[in-house]
Amino acid sequence: MKPYFALCLSLLISLGGEACSQPLPTKFVLGKDTELICGRDLSPLGEYAAGYLGVTVSGADGASKRGTIALETDPSLAQEGFRLEVTPLEVTVTGGNYGGVFNGLQSLFRLLPAEVYGGGLGREVVLRDTLISSSPRFAYRGLMLDVARTWIGFERMKRYIDLLAYHNINKLHLHLTDDEGWRLEIKSHPELTSVGGFRGEGSPVEAVYGKWGERYGGFYTREQMRALIDYAAVRNIEIIPEIDLPGHSRNIASVYPEIRCNYAPDTVSTVGYDYRSAWCVAREENYRLLDDILSEVCTLFPSKYIHVGGDEVDLEQWSRCPDCRRLMQEKGFDDPHRLEDYFLERVSSILARHGKYPGVWDEAVKTGAFTRESRVYAWHDTRKCLGALENGYQTVIMPGEYFYLDMRQSPTEDGHDWAGIVDARKLFSFDFERSGITPGMMSHVAGFEAAFWSEAYISHNPERPDYLDYMCFPRLCALSRLAWSGNGEGWDSFYEELVSKHYDRLTAMGVRYRLFPPKVTWSGGVLRAEVDDGSRLCYKEEGSDREQAYTGPIRTAKPHLYQFRSHRGTGVSPWVAHESFHRTVKPAVKITSSMAESRQFPMSNAETYRGMTRTARASRRGDWILYTFAQEVSCREMYLQTGNRQLPKAIITRGRAEVLYAGEERFVDAGELFQGSITLRPSRPIRAVRLVSEYDGNGTPFVSIQPLVVKPRL
Ligand code: ACM
Ligand code: ZN
Repeated sequence: MKPYFALCLSLLISLGGEACSQPLPTKFVLGKDTELICGRDLSPLGEYAAGYLGVTVSGADGASKRGTIALETDPSLAQEGFRLEVTPLEVTVTGGNYGGVFNGLQSLFRLLPAEVYGGGLGREVVLRDTLISSSPRFAYRGLMLDVARTWIGFERMKRYIDLLAYHNINKLHLHLTDDEGWRLEIKSHPELTSVGGFRGEGSPVEAVYGKWGERYGGFYTREQMRALIDYAAVRNIEIIPEIDLPGHSRNIASVYPEIRCNYAPDTVSTVGYDYRSAWCVAREENYRLLDDILSEVCTLFPSKYIHVGGDEVDLEQWSRCPDCRRLMQEKGFDDPHRLEDYFLERVSSILARHGKYPGVWDEAVKTGAFTRESRVYAWHDTRKCLGALENGYQTVIMPGEYFYLDMRQSPTEDGHDWAGIVDARKLFSFDFERSGITPGMMSHVAGFEAAFWSEAYISHNPERPDYLDYMCFPRLCALSRLAWSGNGEGWDSFYEELVSKHYDRLTAMGVRYRLFPPKVTWSGGVLRAEVDDGSRLCYKEEGSDREQAYTGPIRTAKPHLYQFRSHRGTGVSPWVAHESFHRTVKPAVKITSSMAESRQFPMSNAETYRGMTRTARASRRGDWILYTFAQEVSCREMYLQTGNRQLPKAIITRGRAEVLYAGEERFVDAGELFQGSITLRPSRPIRAVRLVSEYDGNGTPFVSIQPLVVKPRL
């Protein structure tokens, strides 16, 4: 990685007439005898660096000696800026502050073989004379991890802190609470985690996204969080906690149902679950509970800003609540958004008592009434960034169309797509001018943040690092560069660097990163796959999971039977195929169900293949959805999906598929649904398919039904 405006000089060393009996070294040799010297204030950094470099720490006076690596600060340098100098006799890492020295060390690591990230180089390395001076473009270079929907435990979080640190990312925003989980121990209210930290097995918290019917979850104890805060601080990373308020609070409301608004909920459609997710604004006791929680958060976290959410509040809950309506009247509010202002102002005054300021999602400053002392996280789109900047808020730039790492990276991969297709190239292309952000607004730009929301993660085997790594890297390499020095060099140059440097480094870090997809072409009966990144191509044939080496073009009249991907180190590309693999047909179908259809999303949506259908309630045991074809369908593959298109939410939680084959009178079992869906590969024409529920509820008030995906025989 070479994220800096780098200046490499061959230095002429003048030795000022010093007498010496041994020949002077002509190059700096880093080895086990190298000493690392640093002052006491930098000693955590000395220990950190020594672990990677395999050298010993000695001296505590900060004075550099020959044959050493010296860490020092020079307040005349920019905050977080550094100067890294390598001469034949010494390496000096000088930072404008602690963070600057840290960044300089990362720059030194990048001059070394990639094994440095394994800890302890274990061999001598000769360094060229070098001088690098650099400082970051933005003080805020962040990643948000949603640990609420999918749990990321203590050790795995430490690994992520390390990975961020290697990339000069200095803010870790932890989304600690949401509808599906409460992940931070609050000593004064232990049930928030003893109950809210888990779901399944009789918990009042329902599973929504995955791992139904099993106890799932976890939380950070206060002591663990303190250890993470310290671990991150050594690595120049500040942890910013988020307690998402006043919406996204179904979890805490399942633990303390009294915090909700004062009206009877609809629990018929949810099979008994109170789906309401907002705090009542008018209930005075709620602010006492918030005081307890936020006071503990404020004393635990050193960060000046505490993120208190403010996104996606279901305002209808307040409109239906007589107490909230009365409060609106009393305060003279004509817009329920003003209730959110009021709620968040009460929250801010709790923070202020502890000397803290609120971080908020951009909805919270919609009316412009909220305190200018807040830091706004502008996530919707670039217009929202503009709105916050124009209103004079310090703004973290993170529109989903560039910075949401839960978005898919190509059209046929896993992930959401509501904000668009976001690969490393798209993220890298963010442009202030094109986004309408004028030079005059730039003083309000705090920096950039990427966000990994984890609704879909839970159905991707979160016990292994693969999906999280794949979704984060190399997009975070691009974020790092954008936030540190910008994208002025252009994508081609950055891509060349990804391939020639980052990929091997990511492999040494053990990151299961994403390679760009191979190109697949078919012409003249010959199917070809190509890569431009030195990766190893493989393929598989339909009907088999065996991955074989691709040794050359494949002669075939049926290109749809092949899929390709490539590997390099720990990196892997998505599976890709010729466009014929994705070809679908739309047989006329009637969809009926034992559940009524929703008015907003009628069955005709999915019947006409235009979009999603919803039932008017969640499924119970014995409920069914029936697809009846106008004519028998002969196909290679038929995919039947309940739930969101990108993730298993609002599904038939557990159930089976039954098929009525042409010419038969009875449905026959076709297998169990997996996460609400099933792929059939019928050898005979089909007349109808029925999905039958074997479970009560799905944690939401409806079942979504997606249009069929039918692949023809070619
Ligand atoms: C968000 O994506 N709801 C901040
Ligand atoms: Zn209310």
